[in-house]
Amino acid sequence: MTLPIFETRRLLLRPIEESDAPGLHAAYGDPEAMRFWDAPPSVDMAETASRIRQTLAVERRWHGMWAVVVRSGGFAGMINYHNVDPRNRRLALGWIVVPAFWHQGLMTEAAEVVLAHCFSAMDMHRIEALIEPENTASRGLATRLGFTQESDVMRDRLLVDGQYRGVLMYSLLKADWAG
Ligand SMILES: CC(C)(COP(=O)(O)OP(=O)(O)OC[C@H]1O[C@@H](n2cnc3c(N)ncnc32)[C@H](O)[C@@H]1OP(=O)(O)O)[C@@H](O)C(=O)NCCC(=O)NCCS
Repeated sequence: MTLPIFETRRLLLRPIEESDAPGLHAAYGDPEAMRFWDAPPSVDMAETASRIRQTLAVERRWHGMWAVVVRSGGFAGMINYHNVDPRNRRLALGWIVVPAFWHQGLMTEAAEVVLAHCFSAMDMHRIEALIEPENTASRGLATRLGFTQESDVMRDRLLVDGQYRGVLMYSLLKADWAG
């Protein structure tokens, strides 16, 4: 299975490549962008490149990552699926945008086509997003995409840099999906 390429009004979504390390590092290396990530920021571009290699080493069936590229303006971020559970037809999404591109509706535009792909081509029934309570941007994005917050804080679910963190469960069912 290979990841398809998508074109939207402003964006190109294509499979991430190791050569995207400089672009992705503008997000993975930025402490503010990584404040609510499930891992600390990359210390340097080599670490970001290594993270891309780890992603590419996993079969697309279980994990896929698209580079989100503004057609007129370059690398803007990434969106991925992970924790694929084929038996229960569910997976989780992860998303990050380079700070210079925040608040332009880009991840809304990118996530809409990825949701369509997950529900249609991948035949998923449920899509999850685990989001820290203080991450208002990501919670706003999930809500805008039609996700429902369905849990209170799941306590100490992540361990990042020696600190436990709680998260909220958001989900979108195929039946609720507007696409
Ligand atoms: C979450 C993130 C990907 C959103 O990307 P974006 O392209 O800026 O999002 P959009 O412009 O498409 O905005 C979508 C919705 O998110 C919300 N939102 C975005 N930024 C916000 C902010 N700083 N504060 C509150 N809500 C915000 C809004 O509800 C917005 O809808 P609206 O335009 O109707 O108000 C981006 O903020 C980011 O990269 N954050 C850091 C990484 C991260 O925490 N990822 C998620 C881990 S769970």
